Amino acid sequence: MKIIIINGPNLNLLGKREPGVYGNMTFEEFFNELETKYPDIELFQYQSNIEGELIDKIQETGFEFDGIILNAAAYTHTSVGIGDAVKAVKTPVVEVHISNVYQREEFRHKSFISPNAKGVIVGFGLKGYELALLSFF
Ligand code: DQA
Repeated sequence: MKIIIINGPNLNLLGKREPGVYGNMTFEEFFNELETKYPDIELFQYQSNIEGELIDKIQETGFEFDGIILNAAAYTHTSVGIGDAVKAVKTPVVEVHISNVYQREEFRHKSFISPNAKGVIVGFGLKGYELALLSFF
């Protein structure tokens, strides 16, 4: 099984960025643990701060991979283009947010991805990525 985690803007700063909201662990540390725990899964990760690059990666993997785990970060709430890309591809997309966006500002309550996602996982910290992974089994 081939699964990719696609992370959007500012998620390269996990571990340094607002630790009270996003925790102290870097994504690389977390991803290494995930790879060790699930050696039979072909796991990939990609991060970009650029909207078009995220769309390119969704298109590139979205007809080939078995699953996409997408945290589009701030673009979740603004990007018609990423929403359309999720709708366009064949691969099921699970939307993940580390924080519980519904306990935060109102502008974080809107998602352009959710209507076309297979499911949505919010508020469980980095564990949300693992829960998303398990949803593909
Ligand atoms: C986030 C929530 C978004 O509102 C925010 O812009 C992020 C991260 C999360 O994982 O909790 O950058 O997607």
